[in-house]
Amino acid sequence: MKINKICCIGAGYVGGPTMAVIAQKCPHIKVTVVDINEQRIAAWNDENIDNIPIYEPGLSTIVGETRGRNLFFSIDVEKAIEEAQIIFISVNTPTKTYGKGKGMAADLKYIELCARQIARVAKDNKIVVEKSTLPVRTAEAIKNILDNTGNGVQFQILSNPEFLAEGTAVSDLLNPDRILIGGDTTPEGQKAIKSLVEIYANWIPTIKILTTNVWSSELSKLTANAFLAQRISSINALSELCEKTGADIHEVAGAIGMDSRIGSNFLKASVGFGGSCFQKDILNLVYIAKSYALHEVADYWEQVIIMNDHQKKRFANRIVQTLYNTVADKKITLLGWAFKKDTNDTRESAAIYVADDLLNEQANISVYDPKVNRKKILADLDYLETRSYKANASKITTCNNPYDACEGSHAIAILTEWDEFIYYDWLKIYESMEKPAFIFDGRNLLNKLDLQKIGFIYQAIGS
Ligand code: UDX
Ligand code: UDX
Ligand code: ADP
Repeated sequence: MKINKICCIGAGYVGGPTMAVIAQKCPHIKVTVVDINEQRIAAWNDENIDNIPIYEPGLSTIVGETRGRNLFFSIDVEKAIEEAQIIFISVNTPTKTYGKGKGMAADLKYIELCARQIARVAKDNKIVVEKSTLPVRTAEAIKNILDNTGNGVQFQILSNPEFLAEGTAVSDLLNPDRILIGGDTTPEGQKAIKSLVEIYANWIPTIKILTTNVWSSELSKLTANAFLAQRISSINALSELCEKTGADIHEVAGAIGMDSRIGSNFLKASVGFGGSCFQKDILNLVYIAKSYALHEVADYWEQVIIMNDHQKKRFANRIVQTLYNTVADKKITLLGWAFKKDTNDTRESAAIYVADDLLNEQANISVYDPKVNRKKILADLDYLETRSYKANASKITTCNNPYDACEGSHAIAILTEWDEFIYYDWLKIYESMEKPAFIFDGRNLLNKLDLQKIGFIYQAIGS
């Protein structure tokens, strides 16, 4: 089948950038991205390209080039489903906050709603592609819904997990390490796989396009994220040991990273990993293992999360301890709120948990992040339900520039590795602060000797 119309349900961090790049590389395909969130779609359609809802380096240029040509953003979900030959499902799959599997299992209600809507609307055969990260065997559930409530049309379900990282989404999409497509082993399944391969082959060498069965593809996505997160928890665990022994985590990471069996990526000790995927996917893996009574497997992976929670907690504890065991009514400045640089996404950001702990100690917190606004910061804290919205709002100030954020504060905590932090006038900041002036560098971003020369008491992770 020659594909010339596709749609994507979900205009988020995955759906938006992925479809923009497909549209750019496949001018012969009409790409429609739909979402039930009207505000989000309006933002994607905003005349001012700088107002698109997701910040990713290079994204606005691609959207500017393709939008209205062969890339469309719409709230008309049914029309888009009806027209498309391939439907990507890219809706959110957060951790369940209620009922069975609460706090662990993925909440599949949005996925199920999509499946039911596709089943209701589709009048001809469709290929349905799982783009969101899903527990292994979700395709089976989707297929059941489609086959039993549909209008007698044929559906093929493919798993095509997205491996892009936020902050580098565009370059990851343009030049991915691999594309993974899982499908049925039947001739129809293989035909569906071929249709999707042909789309990617417009810009990706076929040698990088890997095809597997559906279950391997689903499980590979969880596994990749679990391995990456495990490396961070491993290095973070050793960072604490370094702080006790006089070893330096930079030097240790450098030394082990040169072993080609280990490799040098993802060995940066930090205040803890965040983002929408790592924690959610590991919890998912743990939940699945438990559901098959594989308790050792579950415990093994759960430790990655336990270690990450510990790393965030001990960072906040260290601030309190260093500031003479009290931060009550002291101004503490947080530089960075996003879960990593070059994104405006804050999901599961370590900053949220560090702020929450410091609020428990009654600190006054001032926050500056180049891409995150006050509304989002307060919503993130509110979501934890530790205290009332009003109580959070009264203790949190947000600033539009870093110098105001730091003025009069006792300590600065670096929580996101934004490049601009490196180039601040640190002498000016030092002079405006209470003394002794502390910096807790949760990203090992700044130059220790320079800051010490100015007069700061500087503490990093793992040294
Ligand atoms: C190891 C380290 O590799 C080496 O750098 C260090 O100096 C000494 O310890 P060694 O124990 O000789 O070397 O062999 P290695 O190849 O690391 O294998 C260790 C064990 O792991 C073996 O039983 C091997 O079969 C097993 N293994 C290795 C696996 O089960 N899977 C793998 O992918 C790799
Ligand atoms: C991750 C995977 O990398 C990506 O393949 C998958 O599709 C989605 O999940 P993302 O969460 O966007 O991507 O960002 P990533 O770069 O993996 O960083 C995740 C978290 O780990 C961030 O908080 C980051 O700061 C932290 N991190 C990363 C470290 O603390 N140390 C490191 O060495 C690397
Ligand atoms: P991700 O990081 O996985 O892309 P996001 O939360 O950024 O996650 O995006 C998911 C998007 O999916 C949201 O904008 C949400 O409104 C949208 N969505 C969820 N359920 C549906 C649905 N049934 N139909 C259309 N859009 C949906």
